[in-house]
Amino acid sequence: MPATEALLEVRDLAFSYGDREAVCGVSFEIRRGEIFGLLGPNGAGKTTTIACIAGLRRPSRGSLLLHGTPFEPALRGAHRGRLGLVPQEVALYEELTARENLEFFGSLTGLGGQALGEAVDRGLALAGLADRARDRVAAYSGGMKRRLNLAAGDLHGPDLLLLDEPTVGVDPQSRSHLFESLRALAGGGRTLLYTTHYMEEAQRLCDRLAILDHGKVLGVGTAAELARAAGLPGADLEAVFLKMTGRRLRDE
Ligand SMILES: Nc1ncnc2c1ncn2[C@@H]1O[C@H](COP(=O)(O)OP(=O)(O)O)[C@@H](O)[C@H]1O
Ligand SMILES: [Mg+2]
Repeated sequence: MPATEALLEVRDLAFSYGDREAVCGVSFEIRRGEIFGLLGPNGAGKTTTIACIAGLRRPSRGSLLLHGTPFEPALRGAHRGRLGLVPQEVALYEELTARENLEFFGSLTGLGGQALGEAVDRGLALAGLADRARDRVAAYSGGMKRRLNLAAGDLHGPDLLLLDEPTVGVDPQSRSHLFESLRALAGGGRTLLYTTHYMEEAQRLCDRLAILDHGKVLGVGTAAELARAAGLPGADLEAVFLKMTGRRLRDE
């Protein structure tokens, strides 16, 4: 694959908490415009990997390339506009309205004036909350908060949006809305890195994915490619994971 196709390259990434290695030499590439899944059970190292990419943690080893150029946490100011982060824990101000939250987070990314107003309107539409924009977040359901959390991470129009388990605690209706929003973002040229421990979500949403377990990548590809690599052509990801690890993901 030509290097220009990869938006993000992660090479031999490692990170330890004290002497405990949580991410142990992870490598994968994310192509422009795709929804790339990082699938693994709790404790697999998904959040730590995202934190390294976002510059919140300094890797002990490995390299990260964005648009073919290495980037370091120390340089993240220059890359800030290119990355967006939707954290695992909902990060919103409960006492503020949806619009006020987006205005606040948008101003942190350097947006102001008319550009900020337009970004906030786009964000409210993305979250499906335009008609609830003046309600305080404290009154929202878990799914509405998740949708607003997504819009907050995407306000500045990053090239790559990092989403850490964005559907945990979300009702099925909000989940469908979230999936449509993610597909619309990808269709509009955004590239997404999406972590989850839900195999059926990864199968449904992701163009390609990496299976992560105990800090190691066990396979990368489309769901069909992973199934073939595991010697189970046509099998679903649950069967593939079981074959690769010898145990069920939902046992974790
Ligand atoms: N702040 C921390 N201090 C020590 N260990 C941590 C910390 N955060 C995560 N870990 C450990 O690192 C491993 C990977 O965690 P994490 O990246 O959160 O996995 P995931 O997001 O896939 O659930 C786990 O064994 C977890 O217990
Ligand atoms: Mg996590």
